[in-house]
Amino acid sequence: MIRIAIDGPGGAGKSSVAKALARELGIIYVDTGALYRNIGLYVLNKGVSPKDNGTVVSLLDEITLELKFQDGRQVILLNGEDKGDAIRTPEVSMAASAVSAIPEVREYLLETQRSTAKRNSVIMDGRDIGTVILPSAEVKIFLTASAEARAKRRYKELLAKGSEVSYEQVYNEMVERDKNDSTRAVAPCVKAEDAILIDNSDMTEEETCKSILKIVKKKSKVRNFYSFAKPIVAPIYRLVMRVKATGIENVPMDGGLILCANHIGAIDVISIGAVCPRQLTFVAKKELFSVPLLGTIVKALGAIKVDRGSGDVGAIKASVAAAEAGKVLSIFPQGHRFPGVDPAKTSIHHGAGLIAYHSGCDVLPVCIKIKGGRYGFLKRVEVIFGKVIKNSELGFENGGTAEYRAATEKIFNAVVEMGDYSSLPAPIPKRKGGKKR
Ligand code: DC
Repeated sequence: MIRIAIDGPGGAGKSSVAKALARELGIIYVDTGALYRNIGLYVLNKGVSPKDNGTVVSLLDEITLELKFQDGRQVILLNGEDKGDAIRTPEVSMAASAVSAIPEVREYLLETQRSTAKRNSVIMDGRDIGTVILPSAEVKIFLTASAEARAKRRYKELLAKGSEVSYEQVYNEMVERDKNDSTRAVAPCVKAEDAILIDNSDMTEEETCKSILKIVKKKSKVRNFYSFAKPIVAPIYRLVMRVKATGIENVPMDGGLILCANHIGAIDVISIGAVCPRQLTFVAKKELFSVPLLGTIVKALGAIKVDRGSGDVGAIKASVAAAEAGKVLSIFPQGHRFPGVDPAKTSIHHGAGLIAYHSGCDVLPVCIKIKGGRYGFLKRVEVIFGKVIKNSELGFENGGTAEYRAATEKIFNAVVEMGDYSSLPAPIPKRKGGKKR
């Protein structure tokens, strides 16, 4: 499954580009603006002002909107009827923009949009897809163009439909709608932090499609590798390493999450990845990226590169963005491996708390235990998923090192509490030269 979110102001060409991409990728296209337009049309037909919030909200009880797909084409039934092009007039555009600023209207349409994306691979366009509707979309694009370029396109479209509007009218309405849509209090039209900005003022539709397709292909390489490798590698790995998992039901299936585990051996991440029902995004030291084969795998898995010991701000930002984007970020608060040491007696860094504070994401404590000695064939690896620690339980007020440290300690205590270290693996002997194996 892939979910592609395309947000941006009116006239940027989102719908034509999204339709073409949906055809190319063989997935469905969801035009969310059409949902707001149907409500706008209903309100206008009732003779109600779309700015009269109270009356608009009371009308929602009379409306049923069904979103269907016939031969891959979206059809919306407003109280059982497809309104066709009646929702495309300039009056309905302005009404849609006005009703879309009403929180109850947005709430009313939320589940329809989300549930469609739960069942299908989609390309969805709108204003808040990357920020609110599908914050964990695999690809997020913010498509925009200058107001002049967008007004010219919209004007041409309307002329072709036989409409008698003037360019000035189209331009002025576009600017007003931009303002409404981007400054409203709820779910304004803004670029998601992790969305890729494309300004297509000087691009053709074909060029815009090509550049988005390139981004989609690059992203799906990572996903394909994971979804191709996991069903093959994970069962073999689980068998050989005798991986036992408990608490899988504690893993939330959607939304950004920070997974924090104790670190025993180099393959902890594989042990967790082999049993975790969601794809992990992990942070890997930069040296790993240049190891032959391993480097290729680490890159293909979409790992975040960190320059350890240099206070790598870029890696922190990328980690926060990954969690905010709805991914499962896997972190080892101990910073490096502690084979054979009770985690309760090790020191921890405060990165997990820092990332939790900035991303606002919840945290999943995970404890790894190895029975019967060090990692190796026929040892038993146990991965225990603990209960989610809500971000609000981490005691953040204004941020700062002391808060990050206290939060990381709370998280790591939850990890430690799940462990029974009476059968810890023997410490790994040091090689000549002092390096651990
Ligand atoms: O994309 P469009 O022009 O058909 O959208 C019509 C209006 O609906 C737009 O001015 C703002 C609103 N809208 C929204 O608020 N959120 C969306 N996801 C899609 C549209």
